[in-house]
Amino acid sequence: MKTQKVVTLSQFITEQQSLYPDASGDLTSILLDIVLAAKIVNRDVRKAGLVDILGAHGTTNIQGEEVKKLDVMANDEFMAALSLGGDCCAILSEENDDIVRVNNPNNSKPKYIVAMDPLDGSSNIDVNASIGTIFSIFRRRSMAWNEVTMEDCLQKGINQIAAGYIIYGSSTMLVYTTGQGVYGFTLDSSIGEFCLSHPDIKIPKDGNIFSLNEGNYCEFPQGVKDYVEYCKTKDKETNRPYSARYIGSLIADFHRNLLKGGIFIYPPTAKAPNGKLRLMYECNPMAFIMEQAGGRASTGTQRIMEVPPEQLHQRVPLFIGSENMVMLAEEMLAAGQSKTQTI
Ligand code: F6P
Repeated sequence: MKTQKVVTLSQFITEQQSLYPDASGDLTSILLDIVLAAKIVNRDVRKAGLVDILGAHGTTNIQGEEVKKLDVMANDEFMAALSLGGDCCAILSEENDDIVRVNNPNNSKPKYIVAMDPLDGSSNIDVNASIGTIFSIFRRRSMAWNEVTMEDCLQKGINQIAAGYIIYGSSTMLVYTTGQGVYGFTLDSSIGEFCLSHPDIKIPKDGNIFSLNEGNYCEFPQGVKDYVEYCKTKDKETNRPYSARYIGSLIADFHRNLLKGGIFIYPPTAKAPNGKLRLMYECNPMAFIMEQAGGRASTGTQRIMEVPPEQLHQRVPLFIGSENMVMLAEEMLAAGQSKTQTI
């Protein structure tokens, strides 16, 4: 019987570091801290139905959304792993209002900042659908011995050094990029290791899945309505109608489209002109991964990774997925805008 060589995530990260002889090892340590916390969160998510960790925590986050117990637990786990690891100087979390500065007695000059959404799609916890963790890593701008400033944190997505997500689905996977392609690792719970299962992921240039909350259709800009109608119109040549797939959990919708080809849209709406998703915790990391996989990510009018952040919890519309699909949606959005202006 032919045995296949298993490459664990820790081995892979360490090997990647050895390609950069001058690397301090801090990035590797941060990634390994995230891996450790992800395994703990995975354990908690897996037993969510068994013990009393489901349900509302009784507080709201700063977006006014109900916080579930698992959100709090996941936030605590990632915060603990990253602060105890001490290789980053600050953590920005969707669950925290402000910058969390990390004091590290061992590493006096950590230069990395980690932004994260510890448990995205948390409205899906109670119904046992896939949820996930998203992270983004970038370098501070100011000198390492000064206190981390808001300016250090509010950086464009193009400055990301690494980004990734963990999907707690029918299996648990960690997908990440450091700007050298996108790699996916599946957790083998029998050995407690993430093993390389999806090397160098590439999204097809065209896809046949569209994912958006069509329940908000009447609130969409004309161009998005036109694009939705296009996706649903029969056309043999372009293989339409496309399939509509929407879980309402960004990572789950993104992951499926990344592997199969498709587009995910959270558009601006009449009620929420900036959409719903957060630039720093959701859109930038997903955009980095998508671009590294050969796809495209925009607000509909601008490349996501070039949006200058003005606030930590800023929201932006998101059009992300197969390059040709996103480009067409952008064109239709622009055409819809000029149509509306002419009327
Ligand atoms: O931002 C949280 C989130 O749950 C995402 O994971 C998901 O894509 C989106 O909200 C779903 O929003 P809606 O319920 O408005 O479709």
